[in-house]
Amino acid sequence: MKEEQLYLVLVGLPARGKTTLATKLKENLMGDSVKTRIFNNGDLRRKMIRDNTSYAGFYDPENLEGVAFREQIAEINMERAQRYLASKGNVAIIDATNVSLERRGKIQVFLNDHPILFVECLNNDREILDASIMRKINMPEFGHLTQEEAVASFQERIGYYESINAPLERERNFIRLNSLNCEILQEEINNDIPFYEQIRDYLATDIIKNLFLIRHGETFFNLENRIGGDSALTQNGHDQARALALFFKRKKIPLIFTSNKARTIQTAQPIRDLQSDCTIIPLPEFNEIDSGVCECMSYEEIKEQMSEVYAARKKDKYNYAYPRGEGYITMQERINRGIKKALYLNNPSDNIMIIGHRAVNRMILSHFLFRRVKDVPYIYIPQDKFYYISSTPNRKLFQLKRYH
Ligand code: F6P
Repeated sequence: MKEEQLYLVLVGLPARGKTTLATKLKENLMGDSVKTRIFNNGDLRRKMIRDNTSYAGFYDPENLEGVAFREQIAEINMERAQRYLASKGNVAIIDATNVSLERRGKIQVFLNDHPILFVECLNNDREILDASIMRKINMPEFGHLTQEEAVASFQERIGYYESINAPLERERNFIRLNSLNCEILQEEINNDIPFYEQIRDYLATDIIKNLFLIRHGETFFNLENRIGGDSALTQNGHDQARALALFFKRKKIPLIFTSNKARTIQTAQPIRDLQSDCTIIPLPEFNEIDSGVCECMSYEEIKEQMSEVYAARKKDKYNYAYPRGEGYITMQERINRGIKKALYLNNPSDNIMIIGHRAVNRMILSHFLFRRVKDVPYIYIPQDKFYYISSTPNRKLFQLKRYH
């Protein structure tokens, strides 16, 4: 390994995906034998200050005591990062908001022995911010507050940071990133930045270490070949869910993403129940294709009663949209959004599980695995097996696996 060193300093308001990004970068750089460590100011604060620092006033720039504490924490982490690079490290990631010019000025004065690359995480998607805040308030420091109080307190905290927020602009080396879409919005590089190619590539791609993509268990509608609706699982479907739960019992699944439909949630429940810490997150983006005027009909009924719909769909299944409903093509945007949401909320070093539907899972699979669009609506999505997907810069793996 080349003896090169870099400070990668994250920037961004709270809940913008900085920690998720830090973990993703660390995992992948380590995979390339680049010694990387994260220095997280929030973690250090929770360790150093025994009193609860979750109250919003702690982050008020007018609260001089709070400011002094946070500056002290930032300095300790900078010292630690410096020591890490001076001993054996290649990349020190400073994971903190670092939104003010003053703080960044200090960083540049302090960390002057190696190049600094600033990476700003931007995301103003209200719905995703709300979901991310809901995750954050699960931390023990909010345990003494009701959910409503915790959300209000976290939002007040964000407000304080907004009042001192200065986007990256004059720093020598920086990247501004839409952290939800992994899209580089702006970059300015004036020094030789070690590991730049890898880092840029990791910032700009969806990386998924272990995804378990499951279709819900058998439903009463499945027995009758009916589409759409919100049918419940049959006894066989419940048995399948139980078998899945046993299969995944020894794997850590912190989050299970489902659709809003009963059949995916019922499949997820037994899996969650056998995990020690697992939350089900239903996302409307993963709802099954809306079959409009054909909802709840069987394929046979559609063929008999709406032969033109049947024929048109058969002719070009990917591009055909049901009257007053969707087609594969029109689902694409929401499915992508669901995948981005799930990746944003899931810690990149954790396993990730999605329990979806036949058409939904075809679209998710094709997000990671190239298929000609005309073949996507025919990808095999059984109920007695699941797909294991791993898509990282060094490894692309798809396996259809049995769970019982
Ligand atoms: O039959 C189950 C189902 O999930 C329906 O709800 C949905 O309309 C259909 O599969 C999607 O598969 P296809 O596009 O092959 O009709």
